[in-house]
Amino acid sequence: MPSMAQREFRSSVQNSKPNPKFPTVSHFSMRQKIAEHRRSLPIATVEKRLIEEVRKNDILIVVGETGSGKTTQLPQFLYNAGFCREGKMVGITQPRRIAAVTVAKRVAEECEVELGQKVGYSIRFDDTTSNLTRLKYMTDGLLLREALLDPHLSRYSVIIVDEAHDRSVHTDVLLALLKKIQRTRSKPTGEKTEIGNLALEVQTNTRDENVPQQNGVSRGCQGRKLSPLKLIIMSASLDARVFSEYFGGAKAVHVQGRQFPVDILYTVHPESDYIDAALVTIFQIHLEEKPGDILVFLTGQDEIESVERLVQERLQHLPEDKRKLLPVPIFSALPSEQQMKAFAPAPTGFRKVILATNIAETSITIPGIRYVIDPGFVKARSYDPRKGMESLDVVPASKAQTLQRSGRAGREVPGKCFRLYPEREFEKLEDSTKPEIKRCNLSNIILQLKALGIDDIVGFDFIDRPSSGAIVKALAELHALGALTDDGKLEDPAGYQMSRLPLEPIYSKALILANQYNCLEEMLITVAVLTVESIFYDPREKREEARTAKNHFASVEGDHLTYLSVYRESDEFLEKKKVAGSGNNIDKIMKKWCKENFVNSRSLKHARDIYRQIREHVEQMGFNVSSCGNDMLEFRRCLAASFFLKAALRQLDGTYRAMESGEVVHIHPTSVLFRAKPECVIFDELMQTSKKYIKNLTRIDPLWLTELAPHHYKTAE
Ligand code: CDP
Ligand code: MG
Repeated sequence: MPSMAQREFRSSVQNSKPNPKFPTVSHFSMRQKIAEHRRSLPIATVEKRLIEEVRKNDILIVVGETGSGKTTQLPQFLYNAGFCREGKMVGITQPRRIAAVTVAKRVAEECEVELGQKVGYSIRFDDTTSNLTRLKYMTDGLLLREALLDPHLSRYSVIIVDEAHDRSVHTDVLLALLKKIQRTRSKPTGEKTEIGNLALEVQTNTRDENVPQQNGVSRGCQGRKLSPLKLIIMSASLDARVFSEYFGGAKAVHVQGRQFPVDILYTVHPESDYIDAALVTIFQIHLEEKPGDILVFLTGQDEIESVERLVQERLQHLPEDKRKLLPVPIFSALPSEQQMKAFAPAPTGFRKVILATNIAETSITIPGIRYVIDPGFVKARSYDPRKGMESLDVVPASKAQTLQRSGRAGREVPGKCFRLYPEREFEKLEDSTKPEIKRCNLSNIILQLKALGIDDIVGFDFIDRPSSGAIVKALAELHALGALTDDGKLEDPAGYQMSRLPLEPIYSKALILANQYNCLEEMLITVAVLTVESIFYDPREKREEARTAKNHFASVEGDHLTYLSVYRESDEFLEKKKVAGSGNNIDKIMKKWCKENFVNSRSLKHARDIYRQIREHVEQMGFNVSSCGNDMLEFRRCLAASFFLKAALRQLDGTYRAMESGEVVHIHPTSVLFRAKPECVIFDELMQTSKKYIKNLTRIDPLWLTELAPHHYKTAE
């Protein structure tokens, strides 16, 4: 692969050298190493100035190169400057769960505290914070949920919205909400103020030190004095204008980063299979280039796991002394103890090859990277409100993303970035990614805004307004699901219940109905499995074996029932082993069971976690978790009653027509109903690859639709 273009980056001082007096990794030298690392970060030189700016400005925009120390250091600076006095917290939001987790762990280590004490994180289905937590890392979506319980976010003195350039839908809505809350909190006390239509009185009573907590969230703000809220918007992109303008000309400060030159290399010809091209390039680097770790940008868990396996396999064909290459996956759904492996240095003599999604573009910085492989793709959500169809597609990355990716190679030493496409393709890329709010289904976010008392969605002060078509569609969907009344207010109790559950409205609806159909246990399992990425492990190279294994669980009724049986069999197996006294070895035994049954053990574990947590939620709502036993008819009827908006009918030519949108769709080859082709199905997901596919299906009787969702499907008279 010849180098066809070179881009010069600014270089600067190297990291400080290790102290030769303490060559072993004793606690003391670890501490010293961390202190030195912190001092060496570009942001360290501007600590005083940053704090001054925060004191002077209620809203501050901080822009800085990835890896300059924004996320890990600024919250610590604020803590040291006294922003956490009197029990107040600094909240730092991230669009991605994995960033909240890994960064909180790192900061806890830097502060030499246990995670969950002074430093903690809280993400959906995983909260490590306590009453002692002062620096709280969390997802932007989680802070939005907190606002439901504490509309003034009164426990926070500062909120840092990190990775704002990412423009996730939650970030955008959060910015709008924080703008409102900030105004409210700077009003003189005692005055009536409004957040949405929720009139709230700003209280002047003294604050109770032991704020009652529920799920790590303070309940309301009554009896507590409100102090002004500081907002910091952080971004890795140099263009801070959009945020500055949105906040009425807010001040922006730039943290100078450091970057070594990165050689950009393009392929001469387009690659038809970027996975294969990535593999070839990994080995080319491993065998020909100087030491240094490799970072490969892939689009999702499936791809990452398949490349991980293929690397392992190809290594077996190399001579013994050339096998020192260690693939390390990192993606959001990875259990957090495994995520941390990406940050640990490779064993001596080994080269790490980190297989990551776009989370490694700006949200997390992994040390030691010298080579980047960029196939140029990303998995992105898109939404067509006219058809009401959302899909997750693999699409070309934007120029901004591609530049961030190559930058990862030059953080510590001069590096190389291998782009797996010809240079002329680069010019064709979009400059930046469209904000997510313009390409997603809004029903979840609108339900939350309604629950916050914001009724006028069209008039809401969005940074980028979603299309009115998308708003109307979401309102109609929420109405059809029974979350909103005819005049667009939250339905009581279903709308409130749905807004409290940390799930897509359609899943919340399924749980509420399952409570009535006495199959809540089955629906909890189903929703948990649908929430994780594929429960089956389907390696390209062992397709036949995987299919046979899957047939063992397969239900003629469809995928939901198949998932149920995977979950249940694994449960029974687990119980048997526990009874047999294999308690200590359970993880290992479970992994073996998963491997033999072609079940993805990571996904199954994740699904179990999610099951436990949603179960807690519904129990708190007063639901009694009952099971329909073997009465799968009731369960399927409940699925039909919940997913009626996602029903499809077989046509004469064997394709399907999605009833809501009229789209022609195909059953995805991974579905157990792929060959059976029943007359009518409900589905969970529509995705567009070479064709429009529906995934996760259950066979239903088409008459159930008119019977169970008569408000939506009128019977022909
Ligand atoms: O937010 P920003 O991109 O500006 O940087 P950061 O995330 O605060 O990272 C600053 C430094 O901490 C980088 O040099 C990372 O390599 C290091 N870091 C780490 O070693 N382990 C982590 N889990 C997170 C950060
Ligand atoms: Mg950061």
